[in-house]
Amino acid sequence: MKKFMFAAFIAFWSSVATLLAVQAMSPETGLDGADGELPEFTLADVAKHNTLASCWMAIEGKVYDFTDYIPKHPTPPFVMEQWCGREATEGMRTKGYGPDHTPAAWAMMEPYLIGVLAD
Ligand code: HEM
Repeated sequence: MKKFMFAAFIAFWSSVATLLAVQAMSPETGLDGADGELPEFTLADVAKHNTLASCWMAIEGKVYDFTDYIPKHPTPPFVMEQWCGREATEGMRTKGYGPDHTPAAWAMMEPYLIGVLAD
């Protein structure tokens, strides 16, 4: 029984050590954790991408490339197009006419994140 307890003790702490080692080696994946590694863009950089062919927006300090998302947005493209190349927090918060987007819509932005705003 003592041998079994000893083996179980070793097995448990080996698993803990393995988990810690794997965690230490894997890159950070959280949204906020990843910010430090994202490139910085100025509003002048964002302004160069002001068309449906290349549509960047700055929203709450982060920069997104929504070019591939616009065809999936539930409005005709011109609704989002007006905000391409701009600080678009107001557009996101008001949809251009008042109410904020749902939390689900805010969560959908993450895959399009390309950087943080420098200024
Ligand atoms: C910043 C410019 C944007 C404007 C002006 C805008 C405007 C609108 C409008 C007018 C609607 C439909 C009417 C309504 O639901 O009341 C809508 C719905 C929606 N939009 Fe946007 N949108 C923008 C950006 C985005 C972005 C970046 C995403 C996500 C990546 C998004 C996701 C959605 C979703 C999921 C809906 C369905 C309703 C909801 O969940 O709020 N929109 N948007």
